Amino acid sequence: MPAAEQARIPRLKTREFRYLQHYFYQLTGIYLPDSKRELVEGRLARRMRFYRLHQYTDYIEILQQHPQGVEVQELINRLTTNETYFFREPAHFDWLKNYLQTYQKTQQARSKLRIWSAACSTGEEAYSLAMLCSEHLRPELWQITATDISEDALQQAKSAVYEQARIRKLPAYYMHKYCLKGVRSQAGNLRVAPEIRRQVDIQYLNLMSSYPVHWGNFQIIFLRNVMIYFDLESKRQVIEKLIRHLAPQGYLILGHSESLQGIVHPLKAVRPSIYQKCVA
Ligand SMILES: C[S@@+](CC[C@H](N)C(=O)[O-])C[C@H]1O[C@@H](n2cnc3c(N)ncnc32)[C@H](O)[C@@H]1O
Repeated sequence: MPAAEQARIPRLKTREFRYLQHYFYQLTGIYLPDSKRELVEGRLARRMRFYRLHQYTDYIEILQQHPQGVEVQELINRLTTNETYFFREPAHFDWLKNYLQTYQKTQQARSKLRIWSAACSTGEEAYSLAMLCSEHLRPELWQITATDISEDALQQAKSAVYEQARIRKLPAYYMHKYCLKGVRSQAGNLRVAPEIRRQVDIQYLNLMSSYPVHWGNFQIIFLRNVMIYFDLESKRQVIEKLIRHLAPQGYLILGHSESLQGIVHPLKAVRPSIYQKCVA
């Protein structure tokens, strides 16, 4: 990039970064460490160009003046990390397969199996769960709820369209059975089949806010690869809220690199990163 152009790129000053750090933490529970300063600057550069701003103080003013405004959501869309893929951390899906086989034998006449993909990002986790459920249970016996804080990610989750290159972790069996190949303008894309899509209810939810009154209980909650971005206090708050929506004997699944260390909770570890609620 020419030096003159480089010089025009607004720089995020320390006090501006501190403000955004605090603001974003209050908003999402995500703590942006100092090492992320350049990343924040890079991810917000397009917003600065969009508003033709030369200093981040003016951008911060937009956020302050419109606390319910679109820019707050844009900030969330830009600063969340949405990396995900189909059947990520396969050991959890092996565990779920066993769970579903037992469920099928023992629970069929009882209530519907509800699974929550909390922080579902662009939907791959929720659709992987749905494909597995579909292998074992009749559609009326189960439902997946998928939530996230990024509207951009949710939009893609709702479209259920994925570039073929991004679908590489999806086993061929599921791809052939549950995906439709795009043609013409959609060539190179796959779309999750309607019988899977209709089992997945996709909604906006900030895990740090209060949850809808009718939210109800889930037998299994997947909360994977989101708490890595939280500090201990945010983790504590989210776990406390989530557990209220975990059915008695229900399971909470975390990402392999996450744990409940430092948090008081009524769960017992049944496997690495899999916890069961022991109290009603
Ligand atoms: C790395 S992705 C994980 C996706 C998926 N669970 C997985 O394991 O592949 C993390 C997701 O958490 C979401 N997230 C971060 N903070 C959140 C919050 N406070 N409430 C809801 N979702 C949040 C982000 O938008 C992002 O899509």
